[in-house]
Amino acid sequence: MKNTVTTFQQMKEKGEKISMLTAYDYSTAKLVDEAGVNSILVGDSLGNVMLGYEDTIAVTVDDMIHHGRAVAKGAKNALVVVDMPFMSYQTSVYDAVVNAGRIMKETHCGAVKLEGGAVVCPQIKAIVDASIPVCAHLGLTPQSINAFGGFKVQGKTVEAAQKLIDDAKAVEEAGAFAVVLECVPAKLAKLVSEAVSIPTIGIGAGNGCDGQVLVYADMLALFSDFCPKFVRKFANVGEMMSQAFREYDAAVKDGSFPAEEHTYKIDDEVIEKLY
Ligand code: KIV
Repeated sequence: MKNTVTTFQQMKEKGEKISMLTAYDYSTAKLVDEAGVNSILVGDSLGNVMLGYEDTIAVTVDDMIHHGRAVAKGAKNALVVVDMPFMSYQTSVYDAVVNAGRIMKETHCGAVKLEGGAVVCPQIKAIVDASIPVCAHLGLTPQSINAFGGFKVQGKTVEAAQKLIDDAKAVEEAGAFAVVLECVPAKLAKLVSEAVSIPTIGIGAGNGCDGQVLVYADMLALFSDFCPKFVRKFANVGEMMSQAFREYDAAVKDGSFPAEEHTYKIDDEVIEKLY
């Protein structure tokens, strides 16, 4: 069954957990979709995972469209959410609507995601008014990494925790259909989840959230530059790939690949008539 923003709302109301994983290409999106995961996030984490950047700052709208279009083609039932990258919505409400519109038109995704609370509510409202569903993102927002001074758990003081709750209520009021909570203490994330009627999707925010999201390359141990504490490695695909690459290299070099069964035939008569 096709997942939509309405499905998300119904799942929260029924107390059913929402699953979300990132993907950045057609083949991975197909596998995630076929596994029954409710939503695929084309995260700007593609800057780290796919493009080898240190952070997400350099990711462009064109990058997001390039990958978002491929993912949308592979996802039949999952709700595809595409991240709005750094400086594609912070600059003005106008820029936000134009860039969200481009992402929707050129990828055929179902929603966009942007980072920030009350400060980006005018943008959220304007994008939603243009009939584009918006997922908000609070807590550790990687596009603000330079302002945060590193990857740190958020909301640990009374003021910061209160701001997180206020921001969650503000993005709900502005029309967001869901909110990602990243790197937030579990008890606080549970409080936020109870304080708003839209679903919360946690990443490093404990199991009191209405759903969970992980970067697929983290949970498969494909991406090894760094691994946050909140990741569970569901498989060691990185090691399987390394092993396969080593075996391929050896087979090419010792001549055992390609073998007879990987080879196309031609009539000897044709070969004999050649000079
Ligand atoms: O870019 C991304 O992958 C994200 C998730 C970490 C939520 O925003």
